[in-house]
Amino acid sequence: MAESGLEPRLLHTISHDSTSVLSLAVDEQSGLVFSGSQAEDIYVWDLSTFQEKTRLEGHTASVLALELCPEKSWLFSASGDSTVRIWDTKTLSPLCVIHPADDRVGDIFALKWCSELQTLYFGCQNTSLQWITLTSITSAISQDEVRAVPIVRPHKFFDSGPHAGSQTRLSTSLSRSASGRSTPAAGWPRGSARGAGFSTPPLDYSPSDRVRRLQVEQRHMVSSAHSGYIYALDLLQKPDRHLDGGGQRRGGSKHMLVSGSGDEDIKLWSCTPDGLTQEAVLHHSDNGVLALASWGSCTLFAGLQGGDIEVWDVETGRVVRTLHAHDDDVLALVTVGSIADEDTCILYSASADGRIRRWDASFKCTADWVAHNGIVLSIASLPQAVGNQGNIVLTGASDDRIKVWDLLFSPGTLEKHSRPTAGPSSLGTADPMISALAQFVAFKSVSANENLREDCRQCAHWLKNHLTDLGAETALLPGAEGHNPLVLATFRANKSRLAPRKRVVAYAHYDVITPGPCESWSNSPWSLTGRDGYLHARGVSDNKGPCLAIAYAAAELAKEGTLGADVTLVVEGEEEAGGCGFTEAIRAAKEQIGPVDVILLSNSYWLGEDTPCLTVGLRGVVQADLEVRSDFQDRHSGVDGGAVREPMIDMIKLLASLTEGERVLLPTFYDSVRPITPAERAMYAQIAQMKHSRASGQTVEALMARWRLPSLSVHRISVSSGSGSGNATVIPSTVTAAVSLRLVPDQDLDVITDTLIAHVSAHFGKLASPNRIGVYIKHRADWWLGEDSAYSTALASAVQSEWGQAPVSIREGGSIPSLAILEKELEAPAVHLPMGQASDRAHLADERLRLVNLLKGKSVVKRWLASSAISNASQR
Ligand code: BES
Repeated sequence: MAESGLEPRLLHTISHDSTSVLSLAVDEQSGLVFSGSQAEDIYVWDLSTFQEKTRLEGHTASVLALELCPEKSWLFSASGDSTVRIWDTKTLSPLCVIHPADDRVGDIFALKWCSELQTLYFGCQNTSLQWITLTSITSAISQDEVRAVPIVRPHKFFDSGPHAGSQTRLSTSLSRSASGRSTPAAGWPRGSARGAGFSTPPLDYSPSDRVRRLQVEQRHMVSSAHSGYIYALDLLQKPDRHLDGGGQRRGGSKHMLVSGSGDEDIKLWSCTPDGLTQEAVLHHSDNGVLALASWGSCTLFAGLQGGDIEVWDVETGRVVRTLHAHDDDVLALVTVGSIADEDTCILYSASADGRIRRWDASFKCTADWVAHNGIVLSIASLPQAVGNQGNIVLTGASDDRIKVWDLLFSPGTLEKHSRPTAGPSSLGTADPMISALAQFVAFKSVSANENLREDCRQCAHWLKNHLTDLGAETALLPGAEGHNPLVLATFRANKSRLAPRKRVVAYAHYDVITPGPCESWSNSPWSLTGRDGYLHARGVSDNKGPCLAIAYAAAELAKEGTLGADVTLVVEGEEEAGGCGFTEAIRAAKEQIGPVDVILLSNSYWLGEDTPCLTVGLRGVVQADLEVRSDFQDRHSGVDGGAVREPMIDMIKLLASLTEGERVLLPTFYDSVRPITPAERAMYAQIAQMKHSRASGQTVEALMARWRLPSLSVHRISVSSGSGSGNATVIPSTVTAAVSLRLVPDQDLDVITDTLIAHVSAHFGKLASPNRIGVYIKHRADWWLGEDSAYSTALASAVQSEWGQAPVSIREGGSIPSLAILEKELEAPAVHLPMGQASDRAHLADERLRLVNLLKGKSVVKRWLASSAISNASQR
């Protein structure tokens, strides 16, 4: 059992297209993760956004091993198709196919690159060890030379290796991973890859085949290196202490290849430019060796069939100890850190029992968790050097998932993380902004629920403290009596305070909509969950993610010393409940905020999925409750039906009088709707032409109905909550309907409110009912139209620079009460940058925000703040 109780945090889950993840490699240099599939492709993932970049196609069977050669930007892959391939990690294109010396090698399970000898070693199913030195072909590869070497191979099915019997236990665990699919998940022992184990390379090479083919020379092979399949290789590097013929100490280092096999042996081979020489055989238990890893030059770990890990001292050739690590085969091992610094020295083991275990330098288990719903087949870690984030581990399994784990983020170490600092981060996985977002969304800051008022207050305090830690001057402003406070935070410009500088107010809200009782979430709405490049949680898109993106943009510029404007964040806690008390709070804080040049918002969405947008218009809203009340209590319809005037029937007649089709029947309602100009119509026509618009049925008419025409909606009709309410035998005494009107330029909020009240009263009067009518105005927000300015132009070019395409200007049908209030009270124009996609599902189950949108959103804000429209630093 784990002794420290360290709990890993699952940062992200990547779906692997219904195929097991047999091998993994993380290339920090290119920021990419490569995963070898049980099918024949290598998937390439962006490490900061977890989105698939491309697939490397070429192998014709399972990809069993991956090995990186960072100095040449190469990736090696080994496959059940009996070939090794070389790929360019910069261009993500194939460079070379390597055919073994012996055609009948079967699966190639293991790869090891020795950069000093420029040699790639591989271990095969037919028990051979083979190698190829790649110095001499480097230039040829980069010239993309075409050389078809016809290699004639018999197409024979290769039966098991000499010790086929020793595979039984391994095969058992692996076949369990098949989980109903036709081929065993691992693609390991025979028969795994595409049913027949391996296939032959094609004999005919078309002239368009630009990939070079190489064949291992016969003399570069130890044909019976073991008497069982070779599952694992590792490389030890030792300082060479030998004296040469002249009695001089030789410099450099000696390389020792280690091979582990199903024959239960570990063999040590000294590697020289001349080849391999067997130096020692290590044999301790009667279990096959499935995985190898090492610390320094002396400590070797062997993962065994059955679940043990042997720790070997290579110098003495003795087993130092045996860790009874897992209940099933140990299929992958990875080490992190250097033996010189024991604090950083970590071993991770992955097993067919679905668990990962973490071991420290004294071989104590410091973490143990069920990582997958299946067999864990592969593991990789991020190098310690990266921003001190050495505890990020990726695992791949037969459940067709890659999972990304952060072992620093745990209850025990939360304190350490609760004060993340701003700063450029190299990895989305370990971005302090994402860690902060995980804490932010954990607050149930539902403004509409009185019972969660304390959660809202705690959330406001957390945000204030966090923004203080990021370097802002902060304050909590009281909201209206009984309502949530606002958070005010100012990041001061780096330049002399006396220098003229712009002042930006950025608006966001920390309150969220309650997850409805009927909503079914795939994960807890209060726990940030990363899935397939998306972050899921309530409020992640609306509006906690964008709120932090703006804060981190300002904080990072301030830390870099290039913040050329004062940026004040005003973060509201009542937006989703109608913005109660916002006007008063802003008026009270006007002096504190000071003069303002421009207001920035990020609280809406793109029109589709792929095209970045700027929002240039919002509709206003009047939300009202209409109530028909009788003098009687709830009645039984069997007893009193027909004898009383029913409030529900009055209500239905009243509601029916409000609309005809989509048209609103309030008198004078459309009179002040601004006529459309030819330029505006052309804009709608252009948007309707765009690919995503056509796909989502966004015709000119539909766009106009959503964005520039007013509307009326009926949201809910509720009945008095007496006994039996809602029962089909009860006549409710009171009926309430929630309705809203969306308003557009140049409709006047007060005029429309009065018109609604007047129409409802007049129409109800015509019904000559003994019941009474009440109209209760719940929330109101004015419409907003952005104006072209240097600020909006700068925002558009910031988006263009970041996304590589110009944003589309769109309007929205939703409403943000604070926007018009801020413009009016602070006497400054607003610009609106939507961060998320149309499919963000704000206010719905499984709300999400694409990670790349959040990261790029932050960068867009940084670019905008640094632009000459805003920054006095850029004006020098
Ligand atoms: N972010 C939305 C506003 C929004 C919705 C913009 C859809 C763009 C598209 C905001 O959080 C919201 O839901 N506002 C309410 C306002 C109401 C509570 C007064 C709305 O639009 O219904």
